[in-house]
Amino acid sequence: MRPSACLLALLTTIPVSLFAQSSPQATAIDRSVQEVLPQVVAWRRDFHQHPELGLQETRTAKVIADHLRSLGMEVQTGVGGTGVVGVLKGGKPGKVVALRADMDALPVTEQVDLPFKSTEKATFNGQEVGVMHACGHDNHMAIALGAATVLARMKADLPGTVKFIFQPAEEGPGGAEPMIKAGALKNPDVDAIFGLHVFPYTTGSIVYRSGPLMASADEFSITIVGRQTHGAIPWGGVDPIVIGAQIVTSLQSIVSRAVNIAQAPAVVTVGKFTGGNRANIIPDTAELVGTIRAFDNEERTKIRERIAAMATKYAEASGATAKVSFGLGYPVTVNDPALTERMLPTLRRVAGDDKVRLGPLTGTAEDFAYYQQQVPGMFFFLGVTPPGQEAAAAQNHSPLFFADEAALPVGVRAMTNLVVDYLAGK
Ligand code: NI
Repeated sequence: MRPSACLLALLTTIPVSLFAQSSPQATAIDRSVQEVLPQVVAWRRDFHQHPELGLQETRTAKVIADHLRSLGMEVQTGVGGTGVVGVLKGGKPGKVVALRADMDALPVTEQVDLPFKSTEKATFNGQEVGVMHACGHDNHMAIALGAATVLARMKADLPGTVKFIFQPAEEGPGGAEPMIKAGALKNPDVDAIFGLHVFPYTTGSIVYRSGPLMASADEFSITIVGRQTHGAIPWGGVDPIVIGAQIVTSLQSIVSRAVNIAQAPAVVTVGKFTGGNRANIIPDTAELVGTIRAFDNEERTKIRERIAAMATKYAEASGATAKVSFGLGYPVTVNDPALTERMLPTLRRVAGDDKVRLGPLTGTAEDFAYYQQQVPGMFFFLGVTPPGQEAAAAQNHSPLFFADEAALPVGVRAMTNLVVDYLAGK
């Protein structure tokens, strides 16, 4: 996807100087952000040093809920697991806008030498593991708390309501869907939602995209049931391995022949092929397991239908049967084009015109996508890699993932200004 022609027209017709202009309100926000910055850094380090795995974020949730309450907000805890929702009612009537931050850490043992390095341990899948905010969600929470603090100071003048959604388990099994089911987007009903993710782009840069941004991620499993026989007498049975090999090959034609790649790319990968236990036995069964990535929710459905049809029909034609099942992951993260177009000037003003750029499609998945299925949403990346270190920077989820704290004020200013500008109808 590319930005709409309309967006490009907007960007080329508005003079650059306009983006750089600061209103008295924007200046006041900047000053307020500077004042809360030491606290934002302290929160980030505290969360970093005390990471918790998905759906175990009880200490984290308490720190968040306590602070939101101290700001005079109505706070709900235990939403969709360990989620926290804070509601800040402005002094004037208006729309309802939500900011979302994820709270969970990963089963990764930190290798970054920081004074606030994590030494936490937990049990994950029956094994003792280190725990680390290796995806940088500590930054997301600190930024959202910073924005909450600045916005609470402006409460009397805010034309509308701000909801702060702190969700569990973004890395899995997912916290957005349970929070939505528990009513996080209702009462008052949210009109728009914003979220960000730190990423190894240059510190303080903002990378955005209108339309599809991040992929859907689904899994499939195909069990082929043939009939066991001697390896030397294949005609005495039905060989599920040969049938499985044909299915692996035919699945490759889905993306190359059936997906409209001019619209959005997709991936179908078989990552595991198992069956049999020795050279001279053709087994009864073989199993294929794989992943599907798509950038269009309709193609996503079509790919699943094709996989099911190809596997079952091919097996049937070969005298076997195939059972196909899918594990549905997160949908495609789709930024609302109108909202993105509308808020882009805010991002440019906050980060600086030269620091905001259009990014590529990203093959990872985000459960922010579920909010966007309910209300218009915009999700963007915030760079946290010091200039000059981008090429060698460790990616998110690495034990060496490092987030430059110099990006924090940009994050707080972005989130605060998105809320203020949105509510002001800008
Ligand atoms: Ni993440």
